[in-house]
Amino acid sequence: MARSATHFVCSGCGHESIKWHGRCPGCQQWDTLVEEARPSAAPGGSGGLSGGRSASGAKPLKPIALSEVQAPRVPRLRTGIGELDRVLGGGLVPGSLVLLGGSPGIGKSTITTGALGNLAAAGHKVLYVSGEESAAQVRLRAERLGAGALSVPIVAETDLDSVVATVEAERPDVCVVDSVQVMHANGLTGAPGSVGQVREVAGALMRTAKQRGIAIVLVGHVTKEGSLAGPRVLEHLVDCVLSFEGERERTYRTLRALKNRFGSTNEAGVFEMRDEGLVEVEDASARFVAEATREPGSVVLCAMEGSRPLLVEVQALVAPTELVPPRRMANGVDRNRLALVLAVLARHAGVQVGSADVFVSLAGGVRVDEPGADLAIALAVASATRGVALGRGERPLAAFGELGLTGELRHAAHPDRRLAEARKFGLEGVLHPGDSLPHLRSALAAGLPASGPARAMAGGARAA
Ligand code: TYD
Ligand code: MG
Repeated sequence: MARSATHFVCSGCGHESIKWHGRCPGCQQWDTLVEEARPSAAPGGSGGLSGGRSASGAKPLKPIALSEVQAPRVPRLRTGIGELDRVLGGGLVPGSLVLLGGSPGIGKSTITTGALGNLAAAGHKVLYVSGEESAAQVRLRAERLGAGALSVPIVAETDLDSVVATVEAERPDVCVVDSVQVMHANGLTGAPGSVGQVREVAGALMRTAKQRGIAIVLVGHVTKEGSLAGPRVLEHLVDCVLSFEGERERTYRTLRALKNRFGSTNEAGVFEMRDEGLVEVEDASARFVAEATREPGSVVLCAMEGSRPLLVEVQALVAPTELVPPRRMANGVDRNRLALVLAVLARHAGVQVGSADVFVSLAGGVRVDEPGADLAIALAVASATRGVALGRGERPLAAFGELGLTGELRHAAHPDRRLAEARKFGLEGVLHPGDSLPHLRSALAAGLPASGPARAMAGGARAA
């Protein structure tokens, strides 16, 4: 009896159907049916993780104490890109599957080609599977990256079976598949990039990775909604999810781990895109502080990029407008966070921006997603509104701290590390939450000299 090799499964309720429906017959949700390969149903059911073995036939397993479990230390494969290795938790783990996501043009192919080049130079066997670009195009990029990158073996292929066969035959230590969304699994009818296809491709590659001990890096594009490779369908499957962020037009990029089974998710790496490829930026703070202006509307934020402190300039521009509602533009900070800060400023500190456009931007295209940025944003906006520069003296003023809805300043994580970083770069007056600085009003009084001759910074500013 002919039986289709695939079926459709609702991602909401698990309803199975041999036909695709726009609306799930099970839970009545729209657009939730996803094509999947049918598990090959061998009699006796030996396939699949959950087995399907009848309870009577199964042999009971003997649980052992975790302390007796053998956990050999696996040597990591160092990619030679320090920032990437750090975010990975010390390098690639053999047999692991890493998903590297980011918007198009951010530099995913560049960083993976560079990493493979370094690994090849260190004597590891590598393979680059390019589904998006022809071998000639990849060569052009590699020429910019130098000799190491040119030695990387490449296949240009989008057919999943051929890719798996090639990986099995070549048995590299590290393989990059660029990108998971263009790979095509033959068994499924869906277009490449559809949820079913992406899941199938990642599943097949994961089996190969685990069986052969190959570290596989899947490159994935972030969709318009900002999710990785379709609706986050791969996140639970892979061992590590890296996200490459930044604005294409700006030079700085940050690499973060959103999930990491072999390391911390607190790490972030900073890169700069140059003509000769991605360059690691180890002294990002130094650069941003040197570039910081002393104009009204500018303040240095002591941010945390994972476990590492980063000093970055926050700039604000407040300009009168006829527009209703006025514009609120946020670059590098969350728009909703900015709205909250503006509301607290208006309600609790008397800084009204109701009839003005407000633009807030972080220098260098850096993104900061922590509430510790609130105080710096508030100070920048207040300073821009009044047209008065923050602090006094030669060095820019620095700040960090979260704003509560009643205007109180709240503790932000790792104050000592932030202060130490500020001190390292000669920023002495750091405004941050503490006994002497309990409220936004006190921070404004300390940071903004009253109009007229610059007032000495009030006792509220706790010198770092
Ligand atoms: P790419 O790695 O192709 O991005 P992705 O794979 O994420 O889509 O590179 C993106 C951009 O980087 C591209 O527009 C050109 C630029 N670039 C440089 O500026 N310098 C370089 O050395 C390289 C290789 C690329
Ligand atoms: Mg690419």
